[in-house]
Amino acid sequence: MPTTTHLFLVLAISVLLHAYSAKCELQLNYYAKSCPDAEDVIKKEVVKLYNEHGNTAVSWVRNLFHDCVVQSCDASLLLESINGVQSEQESDRSFGMRNFKYVNTIKAAVERRCPSTVSCADIVALSARDGIVMLGGPRAEMKTGRRDATESHLNVVDELIPNHNDSTSSVLSRFQSIGLETEEIVALLGAHSVGRVHCKNLVQRLYPSADPTLDPDYAEYLKGRCPTPNPDPAEVLYSRNDRETPMIIDNYYYKNLLSHKGLLLVDQQLASDPRTSPYVQKFAGDNGYFHDQFARAVLKLSENSPLTGDQGEIRKDCRFVNSD
Ligand code: HEM
Ligand SMILES: *[C@@H]1O[C@H](CO)[C@@H](O)[C@H](O)[C@H]1NC(C)=O
Repeated sequence: MPTTTHLFLVLAISVLLHAYSAKCELQLNYYAKSCPDAEDVIKKEVVKLYNEHGNTAVSWVRNLFHDCVVQSCDASLLLESINGVQSEQESDRSFGMRNFKYVNTIKAAVERRCPSTVSCADIVALSARDGIVMLGGPRAEMKTGRRDATESHLNVVDELIPNHNDSTSSVLSRFQSIGLETEEIVALLGAHSVGRVHCKNLVQRLYPSADPTLDPDYAEYLKGRCPTPNPDPAEVLYSRNDRETPMIIDNYYYKNLLSHKGLLLVDQQLASDPRTSPYVQKFAGDNGYFHDQFARAVLKLSENSPLTGDQGEIRKDCRFVNSD
């Protein structure tokens, strides 16, 4: 029967297409068969590291941004400089990044369980997911199946990661180009509710005279922390916006922006730009709503053009591409 044959063909083709695309897409619990304990092992290590060095969780959140916004979530950030090829970690944009050595701790635990199976890119994603939860943030249901880059993208880092003093327009267009909407971008910057800033990134707002958009008392406080316009980059550290809860991902970030206590210029501008300020106000008033948007934004960031299928590789050591 022609119609039955026709129907059968259509069905067969759609099943094949579906199988093919599923193979090339991220999915929930991608390692269910190949390494069923992968997500548990990673979570256990993230919790253990958090209990020993709380700021590791903060690093996992920043790693997700610096890895995923540079071309793809492909663990290119984790490659170390070798044979004259420089790491993305050498970029000025990576200033202040820390705890890379503990990524190797997580990877080693995963390799012991399932050798050469779980990508470093998925470790970047899952450690960020679990780190966010350790920091009191929302759980983002992250898919897995990313594969690892076989080269550094240092040459495009400065172009793809915004600077601390970039305009709101350039920050928005950067994140829009990877599919985030304005509200999600404002939510994503809420990651700056945790962690620290070095004086190097603040002195422009303090000297020769304080940025008038800064609360004057807060400017005085910051000058106390950063007493000279040319700080030794290694010296004074900074807790972020949120001096009350510096280790919790919450909406104090937005409350501080509304009271002119944003730390970086990119932070403070969110409160004055008409495109972003409505969301700053919304998040400042509702932590649960902020958490929902933050989780959505983190998911989108984590799915930026992953390598899948036959692309890239599964690195054995996150610091170096495989030698064979
Ligand atoms: C316009 C975009 C962004 C700019 C210009 C920016 C810039 C910066 C700068 C300058 C620092 C301080 C570095 C230091 O002095 O030590 C920092 C820290 C941090 N950023 Fe961002 N950032 C941006 C977006 C994001 C996003 C989207 C995330 C994560 C979702 C993120 C997570 C973090 C975290 C967690 C820290 C604290 C790191 C630590 O204490 O070790 N940032 N960022
Ligand atoms: C932004 O900051 C960098 C140093 O981090 C500085 O070289 C640059 O001139 C600043 N740009 C603007 C527009 O102020």
